[in-house]
Amino acid sequence: MAIRQVLRMGHPTLLEVAQPITEFNTAALDGLIEDMFDTMADYGGVGLAAPQIGEGLRIVIFGFEASERYPDAEPVPTTVLINPEIEFLGDEMQAGWEGCLSVPGMRGLVPRYQRIRYRGFDQAGHAIDRTVQDFHARVVQHEVDHLDGILYPQRIEDMREFGFIEELGLREGLNPP
Ligand code: NI
Repeated sequence: MAIRQVLRMGHPTLLEVAQPITEFNTAALDGLIEDMFDTMADYGGVGLAAPQIGEGLRIVIFGFEASERYPDAEPVPTTVLINPEIEFLGDEMQAGWEGCLSVPGMRGLVPRYQRIRYRGFDQAGHAIDRTVQDFHARVVQHEVDHLDGILYPQRIEDMREFGFIEELGLREGLNPP
């Protein structure tokens, strides 16, 4: 187990399309996922994608009981999701504040689909198939974007809704997580 360094926005690896996993249940895969959990816990995140620690593979992890970063969010089960696919259910979009361990100190208002179905595999190769909504759906869309080289600032529609956490907190009626 090891805490790895999280790459920050600007690093070219974060812009690459990650490769699918072809072999499950291997020591190398288990070790990488352990590193991802150690790193996510150390940085205090609610999700992490393998490219964020420099591994161009289609693996994301997420989940929390309670998050200091997102105190109002409902809990999301701790999940390892490999080779994910997302199906958007309906047209309804929701704007919500997002941060990212690769964009430290900042938040942006990002529209996401409110309801999605996602499928993929855990590290043993067991199928995952869930229909979710709200913050759970947001976290999955954010993490899966990382596998396609997309960071949340690219999804912000109004760049006035992007900034440093402390400065955004000064706005009247606005309390970004
Ligand atoms: Ni992120």
